[in-house]
Amino acid sequence: MKKIVITGGAGFIGSHVVRLFVNKYPEYQIYNLDALTYAGNLANNEDVSKASNYHFIKADITDAEEIDRLFAEHKFEGVLHLAAESHVDRSITDPLAFVKTNVLGTVNLLQAAKRYWNGQFEGKRFYHISTDEVYGELHNPEEFFLETTPYDPRSPYSASKASSDHFVRAFHETYGLPTVITNCSNNYGPNHFPEKLIPLMIHNIMHNKPLPVYGKGENVRDWLFVIDHARAIDTVFHDGKIGDTYNIGGFNEWKNIDLVHLLCKIMDEKLGRPTGTSTQLITYVTDRAGHDLRYAIDANKIMKELGWQPSLQFEEGLEKTVDWYLTNEKWLNEVTSGDYQKYYTNMYQGR
Ligand code: NAD
Ligand code: DAU
Repeated sequence: MKKIVITGGAGFIGSHVVRLFVNKYPEYQIYNLDALTYAGNLANNEDVSKASNYHFIKADITDAEEIDRLFAEHKFEGVLHLAAESHVDRSITDPLAFVKTNVLGTVNLLQAAKRYWNGQFEGKRFYHISTDEVYGELHNPEEFFLETTPYDPRSPYSASKASSDHFVRAFHETYGLPTVITNCSNNYGPNHFPEKLIPLMIHNIMHNKPLPVYGKGENVRDWLFVIDHARAIDTVFHDGKIGDTYNIGGFNEWKNIDLVHLLCKIMDEKLGRPTGTSTQLITYVTDRAGHDLRYAIDANKIMKELGWQPSLQFEEGLEKTVDWYLTNEKWLNEVTSGDYQKYYTNMYQGR
């Protein structure tokens, strides 16, 4: 397989996948296809931008004609599909944007791959990157999401991702398209857009701003370092079984409030502030509508069948993440001084 298109490669997870593939596989031509929405940032790809096997294409996956044209022009043999609207809070205020990109955009890519590959599926692969949120929420602490857990999405974001997963499976079953799907838990790490919990808290601690914790802070998420997710994606792309699904997660559950306290502790140490300084910034705010209580992935299948394992303990990953934000203040300032700042201000004032 030589020509691989990675959609959403200027975003958070996509940029780590692009970096891994460009550096690890010089024999591949990597095409980063991204519309550069508010979440796309070419600074995330700066270090690979001069590599001879790296190409950037600014394109919108909701534009079916353009996607068809690009498949015909570049003759992609592999697709790693990460482009999406990814933030749950935004999906609550603008669900249609999520239908357009996550559902329509995915179907456009499937159609283009089906048309262009035209039944010649040898050596081809369409890999759809999805989320654990499609399974809904867990209440019983003993329960985990398995690959066989029935879908039960509860937010417009997760409903749109669930729908896209269904279309990917339908294209495999109906047309034989060589697809594979993964459903991953919450990622964290460098280049994470600061509307999401961890980078938002890091940014606000740095700037002595309130730390908005939704509800009572008792919701639980299962956190995985983004580079470990990129490694899992590499493994599944090359070794995953066609037509199959793999759950990816870190077996690393944290209540939001405990995670925010841990971040405050790490940041106080790094910033040379007396212990307890940052926790005073914690502010409980109105809960997210339909806020899923707990996510927890059972990642045994990918571990046993494909030999993937997370490489980092959470505290170590969190420290690395904090260090990255502290040494990349320019990246953070550029992001927060733009569109995001207005969005954040509006959201926060609304509470
Ligand atoms: P992100 O929001 O950081 O990046 C999304 C990227 O997609 C951006 O570069 C954006 O410009 C691009 N994009 C958006 N709409 C587009 C369009 N119409 N056409 C082309 N490009 C478009 O997202 P992320 O957090 O990196 O997530 C990547 C993928 O992984 C998503 O599919 C998401 O559902 C999934 N996922 C994310 C997490 C997580 O914790 N962030 C966990 C599991 C799965
Ligand atoms: O589980 C995987 C999903 O994780 C991905 O599919 C999504 O793309 C990704 O955004 C993430 O969704 P979450 O909604 O879990 O992530 P977020 O960072 O928005 O929120 C994490 C938790 O923190 C959640 O319980 C809501 C809470 N929260 C979030 C923000 C932004 C707060 O308490 N305060 C906040 O300001």
